[in-house]
Amino acid sequence: MTDLQPVVCDTAEAMSRQAADLIVSLLREDPSLLLCAATGSTPTRTYELLLERYRAEPGLFDRMRVLKLDEWYELEMEHPGTCEAYLQRHLLGPLGIGAERYAGFDSRAPDSDAECARIRTWLADQGGIGLCILGIGRNGHLGLNEPGESLPPHAHLAELREETRRHPMLVDASERPRHGLTLGMAEILQSRRILLLVSGAGKREILARLLASPVTTALPASFLHLHPAVTLLCDREAARGN
Ligand code: F6R
Repeated sequence: MTDLQPVVCDTAEAMSRQAADLIVSLLREDPSLLLCAATGSTPTRTYELLLERYRAEPGLFDRMRVLKLDEWYELEMEHPGTCEAYLQRHLLGPLGIGAERYAGFDSRAPDSDAECARIRTWLADQGGIGLCILGIGRNGHLGLNEPGESLPPHAHLAELREETRRHPMLVDASERPRHGLTLGMAEILQSRRILLLVSGAGKREILARLLASPVTTALPASFLHLHPAVTLLCDREAARGN
């Protein structure tokens, strides 16, 4: 039915270890790898494991570049629930990646179109994404590309679906954002490699739908069927029944 073959790991820990191994092996091939990084609960352990690698071999990440996949719009950048705060805490700070090797949407950019254009220009100047790390929303979103009748191809301001506004990252936001800034499917699909991580029983249903789905904007993750180099790692909890 599909070429998207999940690699099923026994546990979320095993999945995260395999993800970290893949990132490190790509870094050895290309030390200046541009990693596009999702936030949220799924990749956190993978990022922690990269810190272990960094401690063992500090030079490993000296040239790695990072691009933030998405951001909640109009949440102050300093708010602990932003993707920015997450990446600073889990990836950029621990691995010593400073502003010269990093770009990400500004949640408070007054002109969202100009902000998306700025990120696209940065990405083009950097030569494209080497590895894009993705999680999947329970509604099938990738980044903040939400299900709908159509998908804007490029980086854009997305109107968030209600279930996305209930994302646990936003639990402490006094007002939950209504919009997000996200790379579009075009930027994601132009990545040389993609790593999709899916873990936990809560993702079982959407993983089953993804594997059986045709390519449709009603399930943005289904566009991954079009990419020639996707690694889909999941844990047994998510895979059960699939
Ligand atoms: C966050 C992002 C989102 C999450 C998705 C799953 O940067 O891009 O698409 O990957 O909402 O979130 P978790 O991993 O928290 O279940």
